[in-house]
Amino acid sequence: MTDTVVHLTDQEREANLELDQLKQLVGLVPYDESSDVFPVTGWDSIHFVVGNATQTAHFYQSAFGMELIGYSGPETGNRDHKAFVLKSGSIRFVIKGGVDPDSPLHDHVRRHGDGVVDISLEVPDLNRCIEHARGIGATVLQEPEDLTDEHGTVRVAAIATYGETRHTLVQRKGADGKSTYSGPYLPGYVKRTSHYVKRDGEPKRLFQALDHIVGNVELGKMDEWVEFYNKVMGFVNMAEFIGDDIATDYSALMSKVVANGNHRVKFPLNEPAVGKRKSQIDEYLEFYRGPGAQHLALATNDIISTVDHMRAHGIEFLATPDSYYEDPKLRERIGQVRAPIEELQKRGILVDRDEDGYLLQIFTKPVQDRPTVFFELIERHGSLGFGKGNFKALFEAIEREQEQRGNL
Ligand SMILES: [Fe+2]
Repeated sequence: MTDTVVHLTDQEREANLELDQLKQLVGLVPYDESSDVFPVTGWDSIHFVVGNATQTAHFYQSAFGMELIGYSGPETGNRDHKAFVLKSGSIRFVIKGGVDPDSPLHDHVRRHGDGVVDISLEVPDLNRCIEHARGIGATVLQEPEDLTDEHGTVRVAAIATYGETRHTLVQRKGADGKSTYSGPYLPGYVKRTSHYVKRDGEPKRLFQALDHIVGNVELGKMDEWVEFYNKVMGFVNMAEFIGDDIATDYSALMSKVVANGNHRVKFPLNEPAVGKRKSQIDEYLEFYRGPGAQHLALATNDIISTVDHMRAHGIEFLATPDSYYEDPKLRERIGQVRAPIEELQKRGILVDRDEDGYLLQIFTKPVQDRPTVFFELIERHGSLGFGKGNFKALFEAIEREQEQRGNL
């Protein structure tokens, strides 16, 4: 008999999440890991390189309600950069900024601005993954090695993906399934807390899990990267959006979605399609100087409360026109949802429904100076989609912003 049971990760267990909750939050499914050429357990951590990590770490605590848990920097023997580890539910962000004036992180910021450098994934058998990836011809950026400190050992390696983005693979368990490491994050990081105090009435966290990360790639490259995830990492294809689905008067894009076996890790991949004017994907590629991570979708079980708290801390969301909510066709299509449409309209929250259920979603404006990386909040109620029905309304909202920036 094959084992098709899905287990909680340590990060999920520490965050007091339950399997049923994760099925709803991120569409987690059981699958047979033994037949996977490149088994992936889930997200390990997302690394951002930014111009000022000290201040960015504060931003994710105040505006995103995340908690500081770890640190690496000059005080811990890391002369090159500072790195702050933040968590919310099962999500870990690592925010890095160069300290040494010659740190390569500064070169990264010069080229790309603030951005995601590493989508790090937890794997149960690192050697097996690297052997398979190398056999298919993937670029191994870091050979497998054990990192050890007084809290134990973690095995890591890294492979290249689109642009200057990488996947560090982290194995935190031995063959017996027991954790081999008990420190705050990875060897080299020390525990660190912050005296940042949440406002009265603010929930413990604003989101529980990471749902998906979208990658923008160049025209004609989407299928190559879909194939990379299929062949190198054993990912399966999910929904597919092409052509009219996501074309506005001005811009268009093509998008395909790949996911790991248990669907914790989902990667929509976008490429620009030819439109009348410059598409939002072209704008990203121009300002990021190439392919990279475009948005990260954070799963919440109460999007209304999350939006209210984030907005109270100054986060700006894309506006949705009233016409979206007043469109009788849309009202008919979305049917009954958990909150009155007026409450969603007040906040600009979008709704999409498919045969499995519905989802609520909203998008922030870019969170750094360049019009590149932004966030999505998503509350799933059965739907395993990505808001296909909202793409047109969303893109029109993005284009209004693009026009204001003079990039349309
Ligand atoms: Fe998304």
